[in-house]
Amino acid sequence: MVIKVAPSILSADFSRLAEEVKLVEQGGADLLHIDVMDGHFVPNITLGPPIISCLKGKTSLPFDVHLMIENPERYVDEFIKAGADIITVHVESTVHLHRLVNYIKNKGIKPGVALNPSTPLDTIKYVLDDIYLVLVMSVNPGFGGQKFIPPMLEKISELKSILNKTNPEILIEVDGGINENNASTIAKAGADILVAGSAIYNSENPEEVIRKLKESL
Ligand code: DX5
Ligand code: ZN
Repeated sequence: MVIKVAPSILSADFSRLAEEVKLVEQGGADLLHIDVMDGHFVPNITLGPPIISCLKGKTSLPFDVHLMIENPERYVDEFIKAGADIITVHVESTVHLHRLVNYIKNKGIKPGVALNPSTPLDTIKYVLDDIYLVLVMSVNPGFGGQKFIPPMLEKISELKSILNKTNPEILIEVDGGINENNASTIAKAGADILVAGSAIYNSENPEEVIRKLKESL
């Protein structure tokens, strides 16, 4: 079985962003993971809709937009206009999660929900019928290049067995600290999509890393 790989542009060279995107597209990436941070929900600031719009037309990779921002409901329309294909919001960032995922879904965009490492799985129980993917954060969000938090493996397996029983069509995406050495354990625990930033962009051979990650099952 082949796993999907979503390179995170957080670790790319932003002065050559279009080329960096082309590089992972040619290397066999399945999705482009775009980390949006606001300096409030997480202690870092990255990019917003204008940069995402600029990338549209430069690649045919679907845009997997991971919103690490407060009050995501205020900005969702702008991300849709900018070209997002998947919009993932954090459970911890909005009071009205059910309303928000349904809003995204009704706009024809695939909704995802993300969980910080300490957030329990039962917080998403009542939106399972409405979402496309669950994003399990395997580092505390905010920065690339951190270490995978080991207990997240158990969280992924638990989620997998819940979804198998109720919503087997929902994808599990895992984000943070993934590299060639731990990818296979994470894939075996139940991940369908692996996000990797530093492991791909800091490598001498990004193409080979993508290939190895895809073959981790
Ligand atoms: C962390 C971001 C991740 C991050 C992954 O807050 O959501 O997508 O960029 O980077 P690595 O693979 O370097 O942990
Ligand atoms: Zn991310």
